[in-house]
Amino acid sequence: MLVTGGSAGIGAALAEGFAARGAVVGICGRREDKLAEVLARLQAHSPESRSWRVDLADLDGIEAFAAQANEELGGVDVLVNNAGIPKRRTVQDLTPEVVESTMAINYYSPIRLTLALLPTLVERDGHIVNISSIAARLGPPGEAAYAATKAALTAWSESMALSVSTRTSNPSSTASTA
Ligand SMILES: NC(=O)c1ccc[n+]([C@@H]2O[C@H](COP(=O)([O-])OP(=O)(O)OC[C@H]3O[C@@H](n4cnc5c(N)ncnc54)[C@H](OP(=O)(O)O)[C@@H]3O)[C@@H](O)[C@H]2O)c1
Repeated sequence: MLVTGGSAGIGAALAEGFAARGAVVGICGRREDKLAEVLARLQAHSPESRSWRVDLADLDGIEAFAAQANEELGGVDVLVNNAGIPKRRTVQDLTPEVVESTMAINYYSPIRLTLALLPTLVERDGHIVNISSIAARLGPPGEAAYAATKAALTAWSESMALSVSTRTSNPSSTASTA
């Protein structure tokens, strides 16, 4: 399985929980020192686990990363799109560049990774978990840019769960949103 943003926070906790239950887990992030710390904990449970340093904001690099992770993990059967950034800023203080860069990491990057791994995931009756946010539904003040990225991810997840599950033989293979 592959957990993006596994170098810290929710992703690191999820990765360790899965490794403790015997899964071979791949994690990625930008900070090599943090990745190394988490990987050591994963490998104590699951020695084949591994990590990659990657900046998922570099959208054009995602297909190559997906191919590498898929090959080195022997096929991805669970993808957890967790990597993301908050953006607490009033609308008056936002710029188009900030809005677009937040959308790139929180929405376009998980979509690129999903599309790149979808053939493998469908073939393996896999699962996709997209870490969204309650902000997707509530639109909290000072979080317009962030909330919009999560609303997009939630809408994508809900639609994909229906369309992908109708194309697979196993109706339990769905996408879910947290
Ligand atoms: N914490 C909350 O209360 C909360 C609530 C609702 C939803 N969420 C969502 O849950 C997810 C995880 O949040 P968290 O609180 O655990 O955040 P976090 O502690 O800041 O961790 C974020 C993770 O994403 C990675 N990441 C960020 N930008 C990246 C990039 N450009 N390329 C590769 N990796 C990147 C970070 O790794 P590096 O820094 O090493 O790159 C880190 O591993 C996010 O999608 C967030 O929106 C969090």
